[in-house]
Amino acid sequence: MAEQLISTAVHHTLPESYVRSEAERPRLDEVVPDADIPVVDLANPDRAAVVAQIGAACSSHGFFQVLNHGLPLEVMLAAMAVAHEFFRLSPEEKAKLYSDDPAKKMRLSTSFNVRKETVHNWRDYLRLHCHPLEQFVPEWPANPPPFRDVMSTYCKEVRQLGFRLYAMISASLGLEQDYIKKVLGEQEQHMAVNFYPKCPSPELTYGLPAHTDPNALTILMMDEQVAGLQVLKEGRWIAVNPRPNALVINLGDQLQALSNGRYKSVWHRAVVNSDRPRMSIASFLCPCNCVKLGPAEKLIGEKSPAVYRNYTYDEYYKKFWSRNLDQEHCLELFR
Ligand code: SIN
Ligand code: FE2
Repeated sequence: MAEQLISTAVHHTLPESYVRSEAERPRLDEVVPDADIPVVDLANPDRAAVVAQIGAACSSHGFFQVLNHGLPLEVMLAAMAVAHEFFRLSPEEKAKLYSDDPAKKMRLSTSFNVRKETVHNWRDYLRLHCHPLEQFVPEWPANPPPFRDVMSTYCKEVRQLGFRLYAMISASLGLEQDYIKKVLGEQEQHMAVNFYPKCPSPELTYGLPAHTDPNALTILMMDEQVAGLQVLKEGRWIAVNPRPNALVINLGDQLQALSNGRYKSVWHRAVVNSDRPRMSIASFLCPCNCVKLGPAEKLIGEKSPAVYRNYTYDEYYKKFWSRNLDQEHCLELFR
């Protein structure tokens, strides 16, 4: 089924299987353009101020951009460059890596879940498990030759940033600094290298339709030249303006649950355009399957009863994958 990859051909018209019904279309003319989500400068020496800004962003938008985040620019640029090189590989080379089995720990795929969905999305993606690196890197693509080294370096840096953010998010909730890291346990780390080719009819389809992330924290490196990420804010879609050298952070469902609903895992989507292809590299931190999840005890009280029950990540993830991406918030099923 590798012929389903959209990055291996030029498309002059949008195939029928990508066309959304009238009611489901992105209505691009109603999107708030060039919107800014909160921006946090992590080099600000006033740590209390940084923690407060992060807390405010987590409750207002569930999304923020970070500057001076510690990831060396050359590491970011190299990751983006090798991602582009990867998607330029020959169709034959890419076909070898193709799979639509979500259980695979390394796969090149397309859309979201082609086994289940009725309408496809204008996205090809390479999905990798990244932790522990020694275990997974040998399964990663051997081409382009620098891929494994460049992406491993990027993954290590992202993981460190993720843990720094956990400390600040914990502190912003009034929890011990190491609370999130401890309670979520040894974190898995996954990566999705998303490639959205030029699309002949961007107003009829999505790169990714509205969804919330099922994991704990997402760190997204966006194409600086091409916008496409949109976030739902007060019932309107706002287009996130990519900032040079920034990373976009968003909370996944597990941090919304842990915060007992104070922080939001916000609906977002990726739209496509007819002028230029777009790349994004999403890194996900997520608990291992057996980890018990739910609201932090310290955040439950008489005035703030537990909004969600306890569950395991395994239970959550199975539920997430058994549904369509753009249904009700998956956490609603864990109240
Ligand atoms: C995602 O939601 O995982 C990707 C969003 C993007 O490509 O900007
Ligand atoms: Fe997402």
